[in-house]
Amino acid sequence: SGSIVILISGSGSNMQAIIDTVDAGEISGHISAVISNRPDAFGLERAQAAGIHTEVLDHTEFKSREIFDLNLIRKIDDFEPDLVILAGFMRILTPDFVRRYSGRMINIHPSLLPKYQGLHTHKRAIEAGDKEHGASVHFVTEELDGGPVFIQASVPVKESDTPEALAKRVLTQEHKIFPIAVKWFMEGRVQLENGIPHMDGVSLEGRVP
Ligand code: GAR
Repeated sequence: SGSIVILISGSGSNMQAIIDTVDAGEISGHISAVISNRPDAFGLERAQAAGIHTEVLDHTEFKSREIFDLNLIRKIDDFEPDLVILAGFMRILTPDFVRRYSGRMINIHPSLLPKYQGLHTHKRAIEAGDKEHGASVHFVTEELDGGPVFIQASVPVKESDTPEALAKRVLTQEHKIFPIAVKWFMEGRVQLENGIPHMDGVSLEGRVP
């Protein structure tokens, strides 16, 4: 079955949601490895508890982003992935890295893209007075958080919301849509064709942001 490699930097709750869905037999594929750029990422413990091979590639031990990314490519390619998943992987990637996994690397971002690329998305949505906020899964391209989106979930923003409360509401939805995105990709239902995401062969251009 297809090989999946997951990259994390932190808690790994999205990774856990994907592990659970694979374990439930709902995703056609197996998780070959979980790789963290942070040695202390809690997600490493979660992956180990699930019996998944883990690796650490500490970015602070490399002289440049280019050298780190080259080493990361080498590690990832050991597992011959059909899909590379960025699940809270908090690193900016070099163009060479992104190009290597073009059409087979996806990321989840905690906003209704194209709104709020980058950091502090929940605080920014509250400060803007938005009535709704959410999360998006997209193919990774050279533009940071700018690749084509193929699934989103939205949540209401409440009057009394703090960034933390809103983040929690969004995260619950992330745990629902990310496994679905992975399932669709591994079944060949969602594909990137000439930079445009397709679902069951139908272009999503104009249907999602
Ligand atoms: C998630 O909210 C994810 O959307 C976000 O980091 C969190 C990771 O949580 N990703 C980004 O901000 C990427 N730019 P997790 O480690 O518990 O899955």
